[in-house]
Amino acid sequence: MYSYISHLECSVCEKEFPHDQISSISECCAKVLFARYDLQKLKKEVNKNVYASRESNMWRFSELLPVTDPANVVTLGEGGTPLLRTTDLGKKLNLNNLYIKDEGLNPTGTFKARGIGAAVSKANELGVKGFTMPSAGNAAGAVAAYAARSGHPVKVYMPQDAPSANKKESLLTGAELNLVDGLISDAGRISSQVAKEENLFDLSTLKEPYRAEGKKTMALELAQQLGWKIPDVIVYPTGGGTGIIGMHKGFNELLELGWVTGKQPRFIAVQAEGCQPIVKAFNEGADSSEMWTNAATVADGLRVPGPFADYVILKILRETGGTALSVTDKEMVDAMYEISSDEGVVICPEGAATLVGLRQLLDKGLVSQDETVILLNTGSAYKYLELVSEK
Ligand SMILES: Cc1ncc(COP(=O)(O)O)c(C=O)c1O
Ligand SMILES: [Zn+2]
Repeated sequence: MYSYISHLECSVCEKEFPHDQISSISECCAKVLFARYDLQKLKKEVNKNVYASRESNMWRFSELLPVTDPANVVTLGEGGTPLLRTTDLGKKLNLNNLYIKDEGLNPTGTFKARGIGAAVSKANELGVKGFTMPSAGNAAGAVAAYAARSGHPVKVYMPQDAPSANKKESLLTGAELNLVDGLISDAGRISSQVAKEENLFDLSTLKEPYRAEGKKTMALELAQQLGWKIPDVIVYPTGGGTGIIGMHKGFNELLELGWVTGKQPRFIAVQAEGCQPIVKAFNEGADSSEMWTNAATVADGLRVPGPFADYVILKILRETGGTALSVTDKEMVDAMYEISSDEGVVICPEGAATLVGLRQLLDKGLVSQDETVILLNTGSAYKYLELVSEK
């Protein structure tokens, strides 16, 4: 069987919904919907060793992805990215098992390809006619490419000052590019309005169930690459939170399948000093975040002032014994140079933020020498060349 998806479930009250019709947020609570799978059946029918022999992209995990007919998959080869054991950085920080998961090698240069690949494929299966998408930048670039690949029209909405690469890749792949005088939250309002008026499908972060499914494959890959083990710590640059939410869901499914043992990694959310709603809520012991005002950072992916799934992110950080940290723009850009020159991974500012966050954890004695620590590099420096000086 290709997919073992069984239904959708409300993240608040667990009410069930069918997966074979177009869905956005839950009708009961107006909150995030999660895809659920028949894991008991999958456990009986599939041995995890099959995955090693399949093609190296995220669709190798098709049983745990939502598309039921492989003919509906829209792919550019997303996933299958390297897990690199660090050389210089590990030595410098006195960590024996420090890795970078390099998502910069995905189509369109960021991890967004996984979530968008899954969401566009499932929408294709369900007969969606076209898309709208609000984005800090990188998700727009990804959806533009996947819509081009699937032959769907797409209208993207991004802040006027989004990275030039994101605007250009959207135009290059034939999306309708709309620049918004405001932030992703403002873009979100317009995107959802236009979707309603024009019968298009709005792919906003966690306002449809399947982008998180694509992001989930980062956890499945990490576990497989570590020899079916769960890492101890994942340091993740957090904006809307799909990555953390997806990976946590992925590890839960692997634990339930018995394909890994142990417990969830400690998830560390790193945010920018100029936009840190999750850090503030975490430190205040709150269950949800307040809209961050005047959000500003060079790391466009972290400029998300009011994440829709804040309550899920905060719960995960607390339940796994993780934390939330903020870093400055200067620290991020310095870390871009440090990681790129130490490890050869040309890293985006969001990814570089994880190293700054890790140093804070080490200063507080929150990570020990032999733990397996993952710095999740969500994208390539090639999307942010304006941050790199020519001298
Ligand atoms: C490069 C990059 N890193 C991190 C993020 C934040 O992602 P998430 O929504 O998973 O928190 C984004 C989102 O735009 C991004 O583009
Ligand atoms: Zn509900």
